[in-house]
Amino acid sequence: MNEATSPKRVALVTGGIGGLGSEICRQLAQAGRQVIAIDLAARDERIAAFRQEMADVAGTVTFEPGDISDFDNCQQLIARIEQQHGGVDILVNAAGITRDASLRKMTPQQWHELMQVNLDGVFNMCRNTIDGMTTRGFGRIVNISSVNGQTGQFGQTNYSAAKAGVHGFSMALARETARKGVTVNTVSPGYCDTPMVAAVAEDVRAQIIAGIPVGRLGSPADIARAVCFLAADDAGYITGANLPVNGGYFMSF
Ligand code: CAA
Repeated sequence: MNEATSPKRVALVTGGIGGLGSEICRQLAQAGRQVIAIDLAARDERIAAFRQEMADVAGTVTFEPGDISDFDNCQQLIARIEQQHGGVDILVNAAGITRDASLRKMTPQQWHELMQVNLDGVFNMCRNTIDGMTTRGFGRIVNISSVNGQTGQFGQTNYSAAKAGVHGFSMALARETARKGVTVNTVSPGYCDTPMVAAVAEDVRAQIIAGIPVGRLGSPADIARAVCFLAADDAGYITGANLPVNGGYFMSF
């Protein structure tokens, strides 16, 4: 779907150069959006590789370094982007980390580091973009949750809590903004072909893949497709929803 006929919407994607984020950037750009990938400052080679990956949508995807776990950093970054581009229309919170350990071994640091990125990061970005969206009367927020926020996973009390929290946050914000043209939804990926999943022990990963009805890991493109659907101009009646994209790994209604 190309929405180039609509005003050129500005989209921010956190974790924008990461496993899921870069494909989300590409598909949003292909849909006619001006995309800004936000991620931690990375080495020059990594940024160059990202630019190369985005060669087919060059000019419509740019990179901005930013630390989403830091409120002041988000505030300054978004103020600057709003000044340069006139506002943020679409926000995709795709930045996320794992700090897997069973609870009996989990350190407070593993708990807090994860919360600062996976949950505080969503607050920091939404808090600093929401007034602009409601004032202009248009916004699409898509927060990336996880199947493991729906089911829990052994070794992920921190991650599962944060990802379930992301959906609770999204439903609450959806109610606050529904009358202002701003929708807030979550996408809950299952296990995807990303470095995050590649880091899981091979035997554990093989067992997980065996339990996916579709019979394979998800691709970043599978997730990006769902994000673009929810971020579309004509998706204004879908809000507070969770869209699972997990190959049938967890089915519910
Ligand atoms: N399921 C069931 N039992 C498990 C288990 C599991 N996944 N992992 C460990 N155990 C069992 C062990 O067999 C062992 O049993 P015994 O005591 O009877 O021998 C016991 O639990 C060991 O417990 P430990 O506290 O010592 O745990 P550990 O250090 O061995 O393993 C872990 C911890 C490495 C985190 C491991 O549980 C694990 O790999 N879990 C899966 C993590 C995972 O799936 N992460 C997803 C990352 S990707 C992602 O998150 C993206 C997304 O959104 C989907």
